[in-house]
Amino acid sequence: MSRLLSPVTLPSVEGDGLPLRNATFLAPMCQYSVTERDGLPTSWQLVHLGARASGGFGLVWTEATAVVPEGRISPEDTGIWSDEHTEAWKPIVDFIHSQGAAAGIQLAHAGGKASTYPALPDAERGTVPESAGGWIAEAPSSSDVFGLALPAALSVEKIGELVASWGRAARRAHEAGFDALQIHAAHGYLLHEFLSPRSNQREDEYGGSFENRIRFALEIVTEVRRNWPAEKPLAIRFSGEDWIEGGWTIAETVELATRVHKLGVTVFDLSSGGIGAFTGPTGPGYQVTLARAVREALPQKGTFVTAVGQITEARHAEAILVAGDADGITVGRAALANPNWAVHAAVQLGDGQEQLVAPQYWRASMA
Ligand SMILES: Cc1cc2nc3c(=O)[nH]c(=O)nc-3n(C[C@H](O)[C@H](O)[C@H](O)COP(=O)(O)O)c2cc1C
Repeated sequence: MSRLLSPVTLPSVEGDGLPLRNATFLAPMCQYSVTERDGLPTSWQLVHLGARASGGFGLVWTEATAVVPEGRISPEDTGIWSDEHTEAWKPIVDFIHSQGAAAGIQLAHAGGKASTYPALPDAERGTVPESAGGWIAEAPSSSDVFGLALPAALSVEKIGELVASWGRAARRAHEAGFDALQIHAAHGYLLHEFLSPRSNQREDEYGGSFENRIRFALEIVTEVRRNWPAEKPLAIRFSGEDWIEGGWTIAETVELATRVHKLGVTVFDLSSGGIGAFTGPTGPGYQVTLARAVREALPQKGTFVTAVGQITEARHAEAILVAGDADGITVGRAALANPNWAVHAAVQLGDGQEQLVAPQYWRASMA
């Protein structure tokens, strides 16, 4: 049996952790499909996540799901800020479970990159004005690094309120039945905006030194941990590098990973970029070095690191695991193209399709 398709366990602070049927993860991917602009997931999320669950993934992550309405990237994003949202997610989680996959939710706040048009082919680009149902985005500083309408700088009081809303969202995610929770601290959204010196120009206790820039992230991790069961894995997604001079670096990521691990984060996904235009490397596995840096720094026992970024071939994914660069593989665009990516991987690695293919599709040839 390949490493990629062998069962793994996502560690948790207490208990035995979360068993997964294999080490493949569906990447969190915005679907811009909330029809009423109310943050409630629709049948699109059921079909999108459900198809990848029946397609063999070990765990499927929801798209970035906002902790408050103003935290949505676009007005068409999902959220989890009311009991109605909890109820709307439940049947989706249940279906994912019925297909043998685990269900993970990515909690997010878009910060200065909120209130933008959906990234769909026929949509406008840039900031949605208030006249068209948008809102004024909020960020650590009123800075133009986002290339969007200038956001308002958050007051310390508002920062405190936001931390509390992350805790409430975590509690709702648990009530909805999610097995794992990922804090979105990547891609130039709110948490990352505090981390990066390029987007954080604050002069109070939330800006300047490394200790001050990580304060908001540590407060959120602490609050989420308080509201999320210790038996369930808590994950975080970092941009390991800004890839820009004077930006957030992998050395800082490694240090922060160590700190949040001590606060109860056990699962780490390493992405990059998001502050300004992407200037990093491209090509297959372009972010694996970042995963490896975090993997090497954390204790092997009790932590789990996933690699992401143009990992499209099963043999490449397998080689990353065998080399010890990461413990799991997150697949994005290749899984948009092929919901059955994990079943195909099993066939390509010689494990056979029988173990993963949905019984309704047993006559399909996944070779
Ligand atoms: C349509 C689309 C939507 C995305 N939305 C999110 C998101 O909601 N949260 C997130 O952390 N990353 C998001 N990403 C980034 C992916 O999770 C992933 O990191 C990226 O696509 C690189 O992996 P890949 O080369 O396998 O696609 C999105 C990517 C795409 C293509």
